[in-house]
Amino acid sequence: MNRNPVIPFVLIMVFGIGLMFFLSFKGLGDADELAKEAEGGTETTETVAASPEEIYTQSCVSCHGDQYQGGMGPALTGVGDRLSKDEIVEVITKGRGNMPAGMVKPEQAGEMADWLAGL
Ligand code: HEC
Repeated sequence: MNRNPVIPFVLIMVFGIGLMFFLSFKGLGDADELAKEAEGGTETTETVAASPEEIYTQSCVSCHGDQYQGGMGPALTGVGDRLSKDEIVEVITKGRGNMPAGMVKPEQAGEMADWLAGL
């Protein structure tokens, strides 16, 4: 056999370089997936519609109290007797006085208002 002795080395080199590219692309893919998972993680807590109670605990407790008894903001017990559902939606999306606007996403405001009215 009169084969060029360099050929096996060249083959190994080509294979090695191929493997390197393959692994780095796979690595990139994995990194993307991890990033997506991390993003998805935060997104799911936001978009897998937080229940009104969760929203309340996150965004409202500080001013309205853990028992809806009020604090910096007025007590929310019986708010359904004082305000209509539309008025509640208005307050929790657009704010009023010292109540900040944009506390509840518009698409969740209706559900939130129903829940508040039942307190
Ligand atoms: C920075 C403090 C603060 C936060 C946070 C806050 N509020 Fe308020 N809220 C107020 C204040 C102050 C008022 C009274 C506004 C006024 O005097 O017009 C109020 C009023 C309200 C009212 C009307 C009550 C009534 O009897 O007229 C509702 C309903 C309400 N808030 C719901 C919420 C909800 C739901 C959240 C959370 C998504 C929230 N608030 C977060 C301060 C806050």
